[in-house]
Amino acid sequence: MEKGEILFYLNNPEKFEIVRQLADKIRMEYCGDSVHLRGIIEFSNYCHNNCCYCGLKRDNKNIIRYRMSVEEVINRAVEIASLGIKTVVLQSGDDLNYSCCDICDIVNKIKEKTDMAITLSIGERENSEYKAFKDAGADRYLLRFETSNEHYYKVLHPGQTLKRRLEILDILRKFDYQVGTGFIIGLPEETDNDLCNNIILLEDISPDMIGLGPFVSQSDTPYNNYPNGDITKTLTVLALVRITTKNTHIPATTAIGTIDKDGLFKALNSGANVIMPDFTPMIYKENYNIYDNKVSISIDMAKDVVKNAGRYISSSRGDTLKRGY
Ligand code: 5AD
Repeated sequence: MEKGEILFYLNNPEKFEIVRQLADKIRMEYCGDSVHLRGIIEFSNYCHNNCCYCGLKRDNKNIIRYRMSVEEVINRAVEIASLGIKTVVLQSGDDLNYSCCDICDIVNKIKEKTDMAITLSIGERENSEYKAFKDAGADRYLLRFETSNEHYYKVLHPGQTLKRRLEILDILRKFDYQVGTGFIIGLPEETDNDLCNNIILLEDISPDMIGLGPFVSQSDTPYNNYPNGDITKTLTVLALVRITTKNTHIPATTAIGTIDKDGLFKALNSGANVIMPDFTPMIYKENYNIYDNKVSISIDMAKDVVKNAGRYISSSRGDTLKRGY
């Protein structure tokens, strides 16, 4: 798809059904009707970064911070495996309180006790640490670039650069991770041109997995007064990303389920082929409030949505569909 065509669909929401149907067809052709479940554990909400949109930002004094112990994370992962789920996603704020050894220990032990694929989503670390996590057994890594607009990236992420983000994505690939990236849709001041450039950047990076979600405002951030991202715009972007990237794993994300009660269902019908049910222990999950009113996707909810969409749950690990896996 040419840039002009992408922009056309972003600008004309009444044409959504056209891209949705095309995306659904391409999803069927490249991924089939199966939906992969990835169990996510949000194991720490500490973060040393200060991203303008995120409730975990270091300056937010209104949230109760928590850290799960290494043993707690491992035990929770074992529980996920016992349900037949084949991937665990370990996510946290950028929390350097977990040393490289701690993360390796978690990865190692989960690999010893289960046959699950492990996806890490723990932000920016030293290159050598990414290597160590991989050697310990991590299979995949998620790190969204959030926006392809270099100037806006700096505004959103004080002290961080888009250049380093993109460099890390390259390094992860070099270390043989299955790599996931993505961006937020409908950030304050973000233009359709920015969104279009985000989609084009994805084509360049050629990730194995792509996470997309609407901006959802969080009351303790500087962006608390901005409206949430629009559902049709979000689904249009998702569909366009399916059309342009073809054989990637694309989740119906929690943020989509948060802004629309049928969001997960709609996303599955617009190109998505993954759902990530939430396995963060009850006592912690209410404090992982990256944005307001975050829904918790239960395993039953995920199963229902898959069934209602006329699809079925995959029994495989759902490794990358690219690069000869
Ligand atoms: N709205 C939408 N998505 C958000 N994230 C963080 N804060 C928000 C928000 N307010 C997303 C980021 C991050 C992912 C874990 O959550 O894209 O990569």
